[in-house]
Amino acid sequence: MKLSLGLLGLLAWLLLGPGLLARAGKLRSTRRNVGVVVVGDSSFQRRYQAQIKSMRCYAERHGYDMHLLTASEYDECKHFKDFFFRTAGKHCTVSKWLETQPAHYIAAVFDGDVDKWIDHGADVQLYNRCLFHEIMAGNYMVRNTPFSRDFLMRWAKYYDRRPKGFSSADNGAIQLVVMETLRVEGFETCFNMYENLTSSVSNLQPYWDYVHCTKEAIGPARKWQLPAGSLTLWPRLEFYVADGVFLNRWASEEVGPVFHHGIKNPDEVTSFYYQDLEKCEVNASSVLRSAAQLGETALHLAQSYPEYFPAGSACKQCAERCMKSFSCQPLEDAEEPRPKQVGAAAFNTAGFFLVDSAESRKHSWGWSRWAA
Ligand SMILES: *[C@@H]1O[C@H](CO)[C@@H](O)[C@H](O)[C@H]1NC(C)=O
Ligand SMILES: *[C@@H]1O[C@H](CO)[C@@H](O)[C@H](O)[C@H]1NC(C)=O
Repeated sequence: MKLSLGLLGLLAWLLLGPGLLARAGKLRSTRRNVGVVVVGDSSFQRRYQAQIKSMRCYAERHGYDMHLLTASEYDECKHFKDFFFRTAGKHCTVSKWLETQPAHYIAAVFDGDVDKWIDHGADVQLYNRCLFHEIMAGNYMVRNTPFSRDFLMRWAKYYDRRPKGFSSADNGAIQLVVMETLRVEGFETCFNMYENLTSSVSNLQPYWDYVHCTKEAIGPARKWQLPAGSLTLWPRLEFYVADGVFLNRWASEEVGPVFHHGIKNPDEVTSFYYQDLEKCEVNASSVLRSAAQLGETALHLAQSYPEYFPAGSACKQCAERCMKSFSCQPLEDAEEPRPKQVGAAAFNTAGFFLVDSAESRKHSWGWSRWAA
C-alpha cells in the first residue's frame, strides 16, 4: 500500500499541454526517440480508457510514440508480483523494455509538451511530490542508458528489502535508491530507519521520520552529474506532472505542468477536461488559464504550505522568487548547499548525525543541515 492511493500518478492522469490549442492547426512535429509509456494490466487499461485516450491525443499531437505495457512481458520481472509493491514489476519491465529500444530513447513513464524536460538531457528525472515530503515514484522520465536501466532495476529489487511495517512500497524505496545513486553520506542512518519500520499505516510518524532522513541526506533538488550518468530531481511543481487538484485543475498554454494526475474519476476527462475526447478537443473554458493566473495560483499554494516550499526570495528555489513564473530551478551540480558524497567502499557504512530532527521535520526541501 502506498499513501493516498487517489493521488498516485499511475492510477489516473490527464494531460494538457502548453500549445495544445495554439498548435492544433499547425503541422504535427515529429520527435523521434520519444515515447509516452503507460504500464498497467488489461483491467487497468479498461478502467482508465478515457485517460489513456487523452494521452494518445497528447502523444499524437506532439509526434511522440505511445506504448502500453502490461508488466507481464518479461519472465524476469514476474518475481515482483506482491500486491503492495507491484510497481517493482513496472520498473523492472521498463528497464527490460528499454533494452529493446534504441540507445538514448527517452521514455516518459506514467502513470506534455514534455519537450522542456526531454531537452533537459539527464538520464533519470524525478520530482518532489507536491504536498508530500517524498520524491514521487509514479511518474518519471528516463533516457535509455545503462545508468537508467540500472537505476530502475535496483529500485525494483528493493522489493526484497522492504521492511515489515508501512514503507509506502516503491515510494519509500526510491528515496534510498536515489541516495545510493548519488552516494550521499548518511545511508546507514536512513537505511536503519527503513529496516526498522514496523508500524502500520495507522502510525505514519516512523515513515515520515525516515523520509526526512533521506531528504536531509539528498539535499535540495539538483541536477546531479555522476561518473556513470546524470540524475535530476525537480523542485515541486516544476516537472511535467502535477496534482491537478492543487492548481484548481487549471493549466496554461505557456507555463507549468502539462499532465495532471490524481484525476480519479474517468468522467472528469470528458466532463471537465475535454469537450470532445474522440476529436482530442480540450474544454478551454474549464481548463485553460493565462500564465499569470496559473502562476498566482501556484504562488498562493506555495505560501499556504511553507513546509513544502521555502518562503521568501533569498534562495534560488524560494517561492517568492520563482513560483509565479514556474522557474524554480534545480541547483547546479556544484551549487551550495551541497550534501557530502562518500566513496563506494565507505558508502554503506556512512551514517550521519541528524542535527536537529525536530527542526528538520518541519520541512522537506533538504538544507537545514547546511543552514538556511
Ligand atoms: C533499529 O533501531 C535500533 C535502535 O535505534 C538500532 O540500534 C538498529 O541498528 C536499527 N536497525 C535494525 C535493523 O534493527
Ligand atoms: C466545459 O466545461 C464546463 C464545466 O467546467 C461545462 O459546463 C461545459 O459544458 C463544457 N463545455 C463543453 C462544450 O463540453
